[in-house]
Amino acid sequence: MPFRIVSGEPPEPEEELTLDEIRRGIEELGPWFYPFDFGDGLRTTALVPESVTAIFDTRLQMVNTTVIQYFGDRLGGLECIDIGCHEGFYSLAMARLGMRVHGVDGRDENLGRARFVADALGVTDVTYRKGRVETLAADEGRQYDLTLFLGVLYHVEDPMLCLRQVADVTHEMCVIETQVVDEVEGTTEWGSRDWKRRYQGILALIDETGEFDAGVRETGMTPMATCPSPKALRFMLHQAGFRRVEQVPPHEGAYEQHARGKRVVYAAWK
Ligand SMILES: C[S@@+](CC[C@H](N)C(=O)[O-])C[C@H]1O[C@@H](n2cnc3c(N)ncnc32)[C@H](O)[C@@H]1O
Repeated sequence: MPFRIVSGEPPEPEEELTLDEIRRGIEELGPWFYPFDFGDGLRTTALVPESVTAIFDTRLQMVNTTVIQYFGDRLGGLECIDIGCHEGFYSLAMARLGMRVHGVDGRDENLGRARFVADALGVTDVTYRKGRVETLAADEGRQYDLTLFLGVLYHVEDPMLCLRQVADVTHEMCVIETQVVDEVEGTTEWGSRDWKRRYQGILALIDETGEFDAGVRETGMTPMATCPSPKALRFMLHQAGFRRVEQVPPHEGAYEQHARGKRVVYAAWK
């Protein structure tokens, strides 16, 4: 049976894939960004260097712990949106917790892989759609109990626009994971040499032209990106409409970037 390779169409119910079909899909759709395990020795090998693969489990553990701690026995039946879902690694993790999950991503080539993985694992509580975070609220026209916004913020050129969209589609809680730049705080002149204004946190401008032009599937949809400092991120989340924002502490043995606070996970509540 043929599997859907790249399609923007909504998924249809499919018969279970055979081991041969899964093996072929793994080969034909590779290289893969995430390590997926289909059982029977069938698995994908993540594209990232081995020294970086711990990042997947660290993020998974931080997201799972946060979500389980907050929602507790309400997990089953929750509706979740995973923005920038890529191959659906975290969408599937939320489906495994009992949620219905809707993944959105700007790239067909990522969504094609995400659909294959869901089919191969027989997961039916996940749907995927092509879309941009910049227009999410109008495109979705509804809210979700839980929003995942993982690894996307530092790839977009208009972070405030995106965070407002993220807040608009969130009914209850959002988990944000992002790279952060070192903090910058200070005082600047403001209209006169005698008038001063404090600034708390910064947005760094990042040039992703090289990766973008090379077709790297993890970049934003434009070559320019911005990356916040931790204080800027907190301030922007409040401005976007989240009333409560908490940093999720990295666990013992977390991936080195999370352990050193260079990547952070925040939970934010409407
Ligand atoms: C670095 S990957 C992160 C994937 C996944 N969320 C994770 O945390 O592992 C960024 C993903 O977001 C998607 N993306 C980037 N900018 C986007 C945008 N403006 N709108 C929708 N998707 C976007 C990319 O196609 C890619 O799949």
